[in-house]
Amino acid sequence: MPPRIAVMPTLAPPGYSRLGIVSGWLLAGLYLAHAGLTTTLARTDRMLPLREELRGWHYLAGTLLLVAAVVRLFAWLRERPAPPEGLPASAFAWGRALAMVALLLMVAAPLIGLFYAWSDGLEVRLGGLVIPAPVGRDRALWQATGYFHSGLGFMLVVLNLATLLTAAVTSLRFRHGLLSAFPPGHGAFAFFGVSSSVYAFATFRAPEPGPVAVAVFWAIVAGWAALAWAVHRGRPVVPRSRTVSPVARALAGAGALALLLFGAWGPYGMFRVTPFSPPAEVEAVDGVEWHAAPALATLEVAPADAFEAAVEAETFKWCRFCHNMQPGGAQHKVGPNLYNIMGQRAGTVPGFGYSAAMRRARAEGLVWTDETVAAYVADPQRFMPGTSMVISSGPIPDPRVQAAVVNILKRETAPRP
Ligand code: HEC
Repeated sequence: MPPRIAVMPTLAPPGYSRLGIVSGWLLAGLYLAHAGLTTTLARTDRMLPLREELRGWHYLAGTLLLVAAVVRLFAWLRERPAPPEGLPASAFAWGRALAMVALLLMVAAPLIGLFYAWSDGLEVRLGGLVIPAPVGRDRALWQATGYFHSGLGFMLVVLNLATLLTAAVTSLRFRHGLLSAFPPGHGAFAFFGVSSSVYAFATFRAPEPGPVAVAVFWAIVAGWAALAWAVHRGRPVVPRSRTVSPVARALAGAGALALLLFGAWGPYGMFRVTPFSPPAEVEAVDGVEWHAAPALATLEVAPADAFEAAVEAETFKWCRFCHNMQPGGAQHKVGPNLYNIMGQRAGTVPGFGYSAAMRRARAEGLVWTDETVAAYVADPQRFMPGTSMVISSGPIPDPRVQAAVVNILKRETAPRP
């Protein structure tokens, strides 16, 4: 019998089942679709209807990923692959450990995601079908699941980078790279994942640098592949031991788990968010989590202009990412609800657990004015060392942008009749 996948031996190393190959590649494709959706979703203003639509697609993609991952796991248990010729057994075990951990994440993610949405009071629909919520709105649950929801993203980034770096080494040394050093589809999964991370990191402030950054990344990968090909051209394959020792397997598993833990630390490391908040000290009356009464008799808001509209789209959307700004059923997010914030003493929104730094600022009498808000967003850590606020798009050094942010903030948080 001829070898099953003789045409392109690289699409799947030997020993994998047809179901494993198909579900592995399906997983990579779905992951690409999902990554595109979530990157767009996070960059779409919460006020736009498009966001709701993207949210629906995000649930659908997550569900399909879960199904594909379960099928892939099922196939995995029945496969007995051996390292492809020339790849050391330890590298093979490491590649499998990375792929397995990614698979387990694909199974865990939808569960965490569901509870994250439900605890925020959001409806989860699949097509026309509403999935009944077993829990109501719950800030503590929302914060914990929210932490791990964003932690999942970090874990995947770390795993994908590890996969790419592994491929960079194994392709040069052993002629097996993204396609053949890993279980079927996993190299593509990581390649798609890193591509979307490159795009995401390049577009925190504005969308323009995204495609350029991705093109540079692809060029590097293609250049590397060409180099590996040139290095191995015409050279015989070095035979190596093909049995994976239990020690190698255990070490690979432990290494992959260590990467997971590192990824789980990510949301705190990058955005200072935590899975639980300090207890709220300003009591919220009947769940009113905003300043019920305005502090200022008049609030001067300048009319919007084109510059302000650009700031709103590029910078202010991140403020909304962490802050609700309207009364009525709008609970705190990562940051407090900012309704009626202008003229208020800092750190006094009911029901929010502030950092020690913000509580100190409150005790010292800090009041939110045009100037103090501008100074805070100019560089939160410099203005208030130890504050738990991180602006996702980075500090805002430009006074014109600061002024626009303050003006939008005033409009968005102004008292409503
Ligand atoms: C990653 C989440 C995040 C982003 C993005 C963010 N904030 Fe915050 N914000 C917080 C957190 C958390 C706090 C509470 C800080 C503390 O306790 O030290 C806070 C506090 C504040 C406060 C003080 C509230 C009070 O009750 O005293 C203001 C004003 C504020 N943010 C404005 C903004 C503006 C304007 C932007 C956009 C430029 C922004 N924030 C972006 C998380 C965020």
